[in-house]
Amino acid sequence: MSAEAASVHPDVSRVLIDEKALKARIRELGAQITRDYAGRRLMVVGVLKGSLIFMADLLRALGPEVDADVDFMAVSSYAGTASTGTIRVLLDLRENPEGRDVLVVEDIVDTGLTLASLTETLRARKPRSLEVCTLLDKPDCRKAPFQPKYVGFKIPNEFVVGFGLDYDERYRQLPYVGVLRTPSK
Ligand code: PRP
Repeated sequence: MSAEAASVHPDVSRVLIDEKALKARIRELGAQITRDYAGRRLMVVGVLKGSLIFMADLLRALGPEVDADVDFMAVSSYAGTASTGTIRVLLDLRENPEGRDVLVVEDIVDTGLTLASLTETLRARKPRSLEVCTLLDKPDCRKAPFQPKYVGFKIPNEFVVGFGLDYDERYRQLPYVGVLRTPSK
């Protein structure tokens, strides 16, 4: 058994994206974003909590040609039945996005409801531009037609954890993206 296989969390059935692949892809995304925003000032907005690890790595993958500053939001779907498609802002931006180039950073787009609503909320504040960068995309799960500009990996409809993604607030610290075993009670 390799050292990496030996360290996989017992609740993870398999590693979907390992550390090496994550690092390489985030480096590519950073280079692409740097090219796209070269010579400009970019407001990078991490959506808590899932984006925290991706956000930190993505920021470090940006070159000096882009002048990035950092802000955060936290949102949740309104309580009640499943996803309502409307978000509640739990933590708002400190800086005003009006007239700014804004890049929202997410860990995953699943139904698309969160980002469809969040981008609508942000667009109303009149940014100069607004794009989304997500580490993971589950295009088969959409309930709202939302397409992020920057996507790290398209993944199948499996429940994944690690690299910021949780199940019941656990597993965020895993350095890879793994498929969670069906929770047994
Ligand atoms: C996750 C993720 C997105 C959203 C995507 O957040 O970070 O914000 O779900 O799902 P959707 O496309 O189906 O709307 P979550 O509510 O799990 O909070 P967290 O980031 O704190 O883990």
